[in-house]
Amino acid sequence: MSPLTRRQLLALGAVGAGAAAVGGAGLWWSGGGEALGGGRGLVQPEVLTAADGLLELELAAAPATVRVGARAAHVQAFNGSLPGPTLRLRPGTTLRVAMTNRLEAPTNLHVHGLHVSPEGNGDNPFVSIDPGESFDYEFALPEDHPPGTYWYHPHRHGHVADQLAAGLYGAIVVEDPDPVPVTRERVLVVSDITLDASGDLAEVSPPEQMMGREGETVLVNGQVRPEATAAPGERELWRVVNACPARYLRLQLDGQTLWLLGRDTGRLPAPREVTEVTLAPGNRAELLVDTREGTSRLLAAPVDRGGMDGMMDGMMGGRMPGDGPGNDEPIELLTLEVAGAPAGDPGPVPAGPAPRDLRGEPVAARRTLDFAMGAGMGMDGGMMGEGMTGDGTTGGTRGPGSMMSFTINGERFDEDRTDQRVAAGTVEEWTLTNSSPMDHPLHLHVWPMQVVQDEDRDVGTPLWLDVVNIPAFGEVVVRVAFDDFTGRTVYHCHILDHEDLGMMGTLEVR
Ligand code: C2O
Ligand code: CU
Ligand code: CU
Repeated sequence: MSPLTRRQLLALGAVGAGAAAVGGAGLWWSGGGEALGGGRGLVQPEVLTAADGLLELELAAAPATVRVGARAAHVQAFNGSLPGPTLRLRPGTTLRVAMTNRLEAPTNLHVHGLHVSPEGNGDNPFVSIDPGESFDYEFALPEDHPPGTYWYHPHRHGHVADQLAAGLYGAIVVEDPDPVPVTRERVLVVSDITLDASGDLAEVSPPEQMMGREGETVLVNGQVRPEATAAPGERELWRVVNACPARYLRLQLDGQTLWLLGRDTGRLPAPREVTEVTLAPGNRAELLVDTREGTSRLLAAPVDRGGMDGMMDGMMGGRMPGDGPGNDEPIELLTLEVAGAPAGDPGPVPAGPAPRDLRGEPVAARRTLDFAMGAGMGMDGGMMGEGMTGDGTTGGTRGPGSMMSFTINGERFDEDRTDQRVAAGTVEEWTLTNSSPMDHPLHLHVWPMQVVQDEDRDVGTPLWLDVVNIPAFGEVVVRVAFDDFTGRTVYHCHILDHEDLGMMGTLEVR
């Protein structure tokens, strides 16, 4: 039973009249049904499924009141639910989304991980939808699109972290034409949120933005520690999305046999037995769970992703953000109760296709991308300027230099500047270096990356990801095949506060 902080309890509505029960230690949680207002059974987000090669839907980003734990929370959500609906597609499907912005800030829509065109009304990160406006997106998945678990979220620069922290995200499933037989499939969208005593979204402070905000309550499908049930001998497929703006998830499931079936895109040729999987923000994992009788907990174990010690000494009076839950103790995400009559054997897992391996292919160009943090000493007074005292929540209005700077190759994001020009159809090798004391997970839109060298780790079978973690002061080498599409898009740190602060670059493929 991991202890809860007072603020977490507050977020659950458990402080106050019910606070006395907390002293009863395990009692409160084991009898948790009532304390949390019931409804602890894990729910699945609504599923919208493509038919005849098309899925058309309306998606409204709007303020919403949802229940988080036992209390009403005033959040922002897609179509009123947190997470938004799960979109189930197949390779070759066209997805049409009429997106409406009912927020007070500009927004847009990104289909994270999908291999689709970045141009026009495709997966175009430069689109901006003003409050009250709509935009019609169309995403056409190629016939050979890799199966897997993907997701969608807003991507309007300057507002991305705020809008994810507020509740705007949902899962996308691209079905495998040769599916692994399972007895049950679950989508698990993991997010985090910080609510104040009245259920409103808490304001984020500049130090939290610099570290990357971690919400105080970690949710699975919008629920606090939900409970799932299964029979022994089942094979479940769990599609886990890390939708947190900055939190890394080191997932562990005690008492069950866990297999890694896929990461980010495609699937492994054969599932690999694992004891844990770490997801940087934006990453996904497809896990097979062979159920065994008993009660298990899905945990997010502590992750050391570095920090600002040293850089911040003396500036923050010793108070470091990032001391919240998750940095020193495991967080319980959900419980799995396995009981009852054993299920029948689901049958063998068919082998998946051998993944492409770019290590044997000619490289047309090599680039280095360096991720750095520095004191953003601008004209307005550097670190102690407006950002430290002013409206840290309004994103786009902060002046340059008002906070520590977050750069790639020494530059902050400028949507009018093209940072990398790539020849369509070629393979490139990118060396990703991190000269800062904090990890930065690099995400490239449209084209997945094959990790070819990761510190000292031997990368045996091809590892394909769309978010690649670059450890503090570390280096990772990836290769990318710029196939199928041309156009202009972005790459960025998926600690979304860093992205909003400028750790993003542009790429043009022609
Ligand atoms: Cu998940 Cu460019 O983002
Ligand atoms: Cu993306
Ligand atoms: Cu970063």
